[in-house]
Amino acid sequence: MSTQQNKHFPRKMVFLSFTSLALIYTIMLIGVYITSSYQGLSCPDWPLCPNGLGIPGPDYLLEHIHRMLVIITSGFIFATAIYAYINARSVSTTAILAAVIVIIQIVLGMIMVYSKLHALLVATHLATGILLFAMLLLTFISSYRERKNSLVK
Ligand code: HEM
Repeated sequence: MSTQQNKHFPRKMVFLSFTSLALIYTIMLIGVYITSSYQGLSCPDWPLCPNGLGIPGPDYLLEHIHRMLVIITSGFIFATAIYAYINARSVSTTAILAAVIVIIQIVLGMIMVYSKLHALLVATHLATGILLFAMLLLTFISSYRERKNSLVK
């Protein structure tokens, strides 16, 4: 007797990759707003702002949200990569790359803050953010396609 089952591509993978993608998009929008409203130097510390995990004053509210969202989003990105590696190997390459890139981006954020926003580092921060977005978009698109194809089979 065959033990082969017609397994669908996991819906959880589509959910995880989409959530990571949407969160990164939000972080990027907030980041660009911080830059264009000249609030980039409002929070001098790393990894968190001087208020820590508490409610910040108005001076660095957006910086605080940027950092807090990074914590939540990193969790989702790591969960996406681990889940993909275990349950959806066909889409795991870009998911794992995203997990590696988010670590680089966080370290880059530290160097950027301590350098008082050196222009080259801010440019690299944007470039790395775009690369991260691209990896998550690819992961989501391939997961969505795989899920759709597995349902019609
Ligand atoms: C998932 C990780 C992150 C993503 C995707 C991200 C994305 C971005 C983007 C797209 C910008 C706007 C850049 C520009 O307009 O040129 C930005 C700005 C900024 N980010 Fe992030 N960021 C991340 C993590 C961090 C971390 C961990 C820190 C610091 C600890 C940080 C600190 C900043 C600061 C200070 C700015 C403002 C730069 C300026 O005023 O020129 N970011 N971020």
